[in-house]
Order: sequence, then C-alpha cells, then structure tokens
Amino acid sequence: MKVLQSFQAHTLPEHIRSMSEQEMKRRVWSIKRKLGKRLYMPGHYYQKDEVIQFADATGDSLQLAKAAASNKEAEYIVFCGVHFMAETADILSAEHQTVLLPDLRAGCSMADMATIQQVERAWPKLQAKLGDNILPVTYVNSTAAIKAFCGEHNGSTVTSSNAAQMLEWAFTKKQCVLFLPDQHLGRNTAYDLGISLSQMAVWNPLSDTLEYEGEAHNIRMILWKGHCSVHEKFTLENIKQVKANHPDVNVIVHPECSFDVVQSADEAGSTNKIIDVIRQAPAGTKWAVGTEMNLVNRIAQQEAEKNVFSLNPNMCSCLTMNRIDLPHLLWSLESIIEEDPHHIITVDTETKQLAMAALERMLSR
Ligand code: 13P
Ligand code: SF4
Repeated sequence: MKVLQSFQAHTLPEHIRSMSEQEMKRRVWSIKRKLGKRLYMPGHYYQKDEVIQFADATGDSLQLAKAAASNKEAEYIVFCGVHFMAETADILSAEHQTVLLPDLRAGCSMADMATIQQVERAWPKLQAKLGDNILPVTYVNSTAAIKAFCGEHNGSTVTSSNAAQMLEWAFTKKQCVLFLPDQHLGRNTAYDLGISLSQMAVWNPLSDTLEYEGEAHNIRMILWKGHCSVHEKFTLENIKQVKANHPDVNVIVHPECSFDVVQSADEAGSTNKIIDVIRQAPAGTKWAVGTEMNLVNRIAQQEAEKNVFSLNPNMCSCLTMNRIDLPHLLWSLESIIEEDPHHIITVDTETKQLAMAALERMLSR
C-alpha cells in the first residue's frame, strides 16, 4: 500500500500528461496571474528553460537563499531547484509561508553523501584526534540536519560565492575546519587561502576513517569525502583536448570540479562568477565552461557574439535539477489553486532553529 501511495505521489495526473506544451504554459501563466503576490517562485540557474521562464527570481545558491529570506509576503514559495534549496527556503521563511518542491525526487547526490548519522559518528572520533579545535562548516548543498549540526557547534554554512570569505572567518574561530560535504570546494578554497595540501586530511564516511599521512596537529582542513556527480565529470583530459583543438580558448570552471581541473583552468568561480566573467568578456572570445549544461547552453544563447560551449563535449545536465519540468511545475501550481498543496517541504522546529543559526552567520556577513 505504501509503495502504491509513494508511486502516486510522483505520478503526474492524466490530464497533465495528455496536455500540450502550449496549454501547460498558458495555464502556468494564468495561475501565476491569479495568485499574484501570494506566490513566489525562485529558480536556480541550473533549471531548464521551460521552468526558468516563469521564475520570479533567478540566481545561484547564495542569491536564492537571500531572495527566500527577504520575501515575507508570499503565502506559497514554489522552489524551482533541488531539495536542499527548498529546505533552506523553509528554514528562512516566515511562519505563514509554505514551501513546495514541484517534484520530491529533485534531490542532490552531493547532499546525499553526508548523512547526519555519519557526521555524528565522525565528530567524536575527530575530536578525540584533534581536541576541541574543529569548527564544522557546511556547503549549503547539504541537508537541514547537517546545517543544524553546524549551527549547534558554532559553525556556518557557505555557498560557492562566499566560501573563501566564510573560511577566513572560520579560521579566526578555530585552528581546523571540518568542511562538508564537498571535498573539492573545500580543497580548492582552502588552497587559495594559502593552506597547503599537506595540511588537508580527508574524512571517509564509508570507512569512518581519517585519510592523512602526517601528524594530526598539522591538519587545518578536514575534507568530507563527497563530491558533485555533475562537476566531477570535467577532467584534465578535457582541458588538454579543448586547448589542443582551440589554442585561443579560455577555460572557466566551477570550484566543485576537482583540484587538478581547477588548477589547470584559466579561471574558476561560482555559477554567478562564471556568468559575470563571460558576460563581460569581449565579443569573439572563446569559452569552454565546466559547469551544469542547462546553464552553459543558456549562456551560449545569451552571449551569442562569443563562442561558449561545454568543457566536456559529452556532458549532460544535472538529472535531479531536471526533475523539475513544466508538467510538474503546473501540477504544483494547480495543487495550490485547488487548495490542496502537495510536495510541501517542512523542516522541524528544532532543526530549523539550529540550521538558522548556521545560515545567519553566513547571511549576516
Ligand atoms: P552555486 O549555485 O553556489 O554555484 O552551486 C552550484 C550547484 O551545484 C547548485 O546545486
Ligand atoms: Fe547537486 Fe551537483 Fe546537481 Fe548541484 S549540480 S544539485 S551539487 S548534483
């Protein structure tokens, strides 16, 4: 019975499945008009065009967290992004606001690589090795429970746009940072701040072991062994190939890419930085971009006087971001109009309060 219910929760109703794209668009616009300011729809840059065209605000994770925190008017926030973003919106929203995620299967493989049970197992072991010298800091691409863990232990959240600034802050508090769940963003950012690779250890949550060869007192960064399954698809081989084929190309990548890739690229930066750098580049320049495909295609379209393409010619989009599509968006909006909103994202009160502390430390800077 439970299996059937969960299947039905993800299955689009027949009337939407048989609807034309034109009709779906017409209905989405019509519901948006009807709901007016009662509805707010933030959309991450990695969302499909068929969804992003309806967004009230578009941005990277930092911009959307700020947007969600500042809109206190809307009764319904329909989040066009992935699960951890909708959770963040719920944490930052007011009591009277309800957050919906159009498809509950829109998760994030990176966020799934750190569970709260794993973190709670790791923490006492790390403290036994390093003493009370560790501050936990988490990329916003993590569950609410992990954000709450960081909040409870005086730590913070970071996004790819402010990771350097937040790590600098973290090192004023403690000698060592436990960086969750993306080892690459942690390694790339700490290295730029002057921390050497020999001062970075890796925590392996599958074997519950610290991977480090030196003396424990030298450790400044403990990198959680997680990664983004989209950004890890960019390789050194891709860079060699693109430079061989296009000697005048500029390679720009997201810091979720591996250390070797970031070091070999011409530039690296958050989603927002990638957009800004290409936008400001002179016409005729060539850009091989190491980030999510929906965004790369959109930049290529918008910056048509430049030659913009993916660093990996066989790249595909983030599959979980792509779960949010036009039919699911319409289904979500119809559920509001019918006064039976579904796919609501709710973070429990205690987790909310602690996670809020971690988010506020970031948003107040
Ligand atoms: P930013 O939006 O911080 O660049 O993060 C990229 C990402 O992978 C979002 O899921
Ligand atoms: Fe998660 Fe990577 Fe997809 Fe972002 S791009 S939602 S980090 S899997």
